[in-house]
Amino acid sequence: MKLDIEYLLKNLTLEEKAGLCSGADNWFTKAVERLGLPSIMMTDGPHGLRKQAGSGDNLGLEESVKAVCFPAGCALASSFDRGLMQEVGDHLGEEARSESVHTLLGPAINMKRSPLCGRNFEYLSEDPYQAGEMASGYVKGVQGRHVGVCVKHFAANSQESRRMSISARVDERTLREIYLTAFEKVVRQASPWSLMCSYNRINGVYSCENDWLLNHMLRDEWGFDGIVMSDWGAVNDRCRSLKAGLNLEMPYSRGVNDAKIVAAVKNGELDEEILNKSVRELLEWIGKGLDDVPAAPYDKEAHHAFARRAAGESAVLLKNDGLLPLKKGCKVAFIGGFAKAPRYQGGGSSHINSFRVSDALEAAKGIPNITYSKGVKDDGVTADAELFAEAVRNAKEAEAAVIFAGLPDSFESEGYDRTHMDLPECQNELIKAVAKVQPNTVVVLHNGSPVTMPWVEDVASILEMYLGGQAVGGAEVDLLYGDVNPSGKLAETFPLRLEDTPSYLNFPGERREVSYGEGIFIGYRWYDARKMQVLFPFGYGLSYTSFEVSGLSLSRSEMKDTDTLLVRVSVKNTGKVSGKEVVQIYVGAAEDSDAVRPVRELKGFVKVALEPGEEKTVEFTLDKRSFAVFDSEEGEWVIPDGNYRIYAGNSSRNLPLSADVKITGAQKAALVLQEFTTIGDVLRCPGGKEAMEPIIAKVAKAFGVHDDALGDGFGKMVDRMMQEMPLHSICSFAPVGMDEIKQALSGILQE
Ligand code: BGC
Repeated sequence: MKLDIEYLLKNLTLEEKAGLCSGADNWFTKAVERLGLPSIMMTDGPHGLRKQAGSGDNLGLEESVKAVCFPAGCALASSFDRGLMQEVGDHLGEEARSESVHTLLGPAINMKRSPLCGRNFEYLSEDPYQAGEMASGYVKGVQGRHVGVCVKHFAANSQESRRMSISARVDERTLREIYLTAFEKVVRQASPWSLMCSYNRINGVYSCENDWLLNHMLRDEWGFDGIVMSDWGAVNDRCRSLKAGLNLEMPYSRGVNDAKIVAAVKNGELDEEILNKSVRELLEWIGKGLDDVPAAPYDKEAHHAFARRAAGESAVLLKNDGLLPLKKGCKVAFIGGFAKAPRYQGGGSSHINSFRVSDALEAAKGIPNITYSKGVKDDGVTADAELFAEAVRNAKEAEAAVIFAGLPDSFESEGYDRTHMDLPECQNELIKAVAKVQPNTVVVLHNGSPVTMPWVEDVASILEMYLGGQAVGGAEVDLLYGDVNPSGKLAETFPLRLEDTPSYLNFPGERREVSYGEGIFIGYRWYDARKMQVLFPFGYGLSYTSFEVSGLSLSRSEMKDTDTLLVRVSVKNTGKVSGKEVVQIYVGAAEDSDAVRPVRELKGFVKVALEPGEEKTVEFTLDKRSFAVFDSEEGEWVIPDGNYRIYAGNSSRNLPLSADVKITGAQKAALVLQEFTTIGDVLRCPGGKEAMEPIIAKVAKAFGVHDDALGDGFGKMVDRMMQEMPLHSICSFAPVGMDEIKQALSGILQE
């Protein structure tokens, strides 16, 4: 079916157009039957289909149709595999199509600013480049099935506390470099059909009403051509939000806001052309999902099998003192309720009604010599002396113990933030006690966000499953017994303690505002800049084989800021089993630069499958954005002239190879004279030294320095002091007026 948009626009009444700007109920848009415009359905997202049969709710309270729960974002991101993300998207798209869902509400790609954010389990990464790359894969997968995505929550929705009203105080550079980048990448790389704007405010303005964000940034600058819908209940002032570029209010306001739009057009407060533009975009969006691809049933079992593979690809082996993989048949004590009823998804709007859940005990059925004990009560938080003793006894009598631990549902969910990073005390006690009697102890973790590990030194192995989806149990057995070789890498830092985290003093904010005081230094950017120890770094993860990266080479050693740089590096499987390694490329300034910037940032990664002894060469292309910072004064991305270092390795803290490239600007903005322009600012500007020479000579003379004005004779101390001096202060020390200075600089001043 094809929509005749011109015909519709011509024939829709004002009331009908206003009506299209909000939902019919929780999940549907309004139909206009007299003109043949159908209503379309949206459904959560992100890692499964939560299609509710009735009018439903947005909190995951009412039942939804049976579907497949894939690993949550926290797990999938750790796969560092764009192809896998695309496959996940493809499966989700197939399910959505089969259920006649037009748009899937995901992916959720907000930055993990604090490990406490209740929704981190849905989000992907603490790194915007990685989140954007992974999300692009997902979007391509879903939309390849003629189903739309809705990338959420745009923007700066990195906490649940007061999520519907909090204002994120954040400077433009930080927004651009950290909080908007992933969205920008997805928009530019994968053309999502829609975006969902967040509940919160940014610098006092609701995202839904943020003209700068929705019109200027998203549409004009990034070229977004889809629609923006509100998060459920996020609309504040409907007319203001319409003007700011919000197409669709969800779910709906029982006609109240539609009527406001009509009234505003009638009394001249709202230009009808703004409404028309918005409705045109809405119709184009609706039309995209109406092509003639039939809604065929999908193979649930095949999707379940894929969910198992995806969980296996995403798990991160955090520690392994040679214990894993276990030998099939050796006597193993499985301990902990999650072996039988795993926690595999989070709470809230992403909650899936899984058609089947596989647990580790069931998946390990054919493997002999496995015992099971709960260790703590079913809720995961209550200790029980008998259960505890039984678990310790089983562990002692076995050759190895595997403790299935993690956070219970109540510890993390959409809607609220955590207040600490600890596992329930009874689980920590259990792990310690088991490790005491059984040196071959493995901890398998089920959690949506980092936890502290007071027993990290006591256990032999740690396998991080995150929230691994409905087939997590099968994946656990695959990994524990070596049928699958772990290949995930952390998409977030595991800090040693909450107090170390970048936003510790500013999370979740005070009253109505949260200050993003750490600026661009989130995640590893913070820990690296402050040279802090962490529990496990970003990008880190072990394997049952070993790899070596070597032979880093750059296509050039000098370049202009408009050039691209080709980076090559080889990676070899130096162990005995096949496996996958994630080669990571980071970029940082090689020397002190004027710009405050992270030590290094991830700018390339690729997952490579290798047989034992096999070696492959991989290539990365670095462009301007790989080196640039956002200059808020100039309002543009710039690369400060200088030497940059390219690092290669397999985690943010294991980068054995590096090489430098010198970058010079192709065109430079000339000097803009401002009240606070210093001598140093002029000297750093191209041509500045020469232009400033006669003035410097006079100042030097006034200071009694008679040597070469720009050379060592100036004296290091005087030199540094002079550099900090604003031009207007020169006249206080030397007989030089502003007119003379302007005259001397005339050749380099911006027109
Ligand atoms: C959540 C969204 C979700 C929507 C619909 C909201 O509360 O923030 O992520 O898509 O509900 O369920």
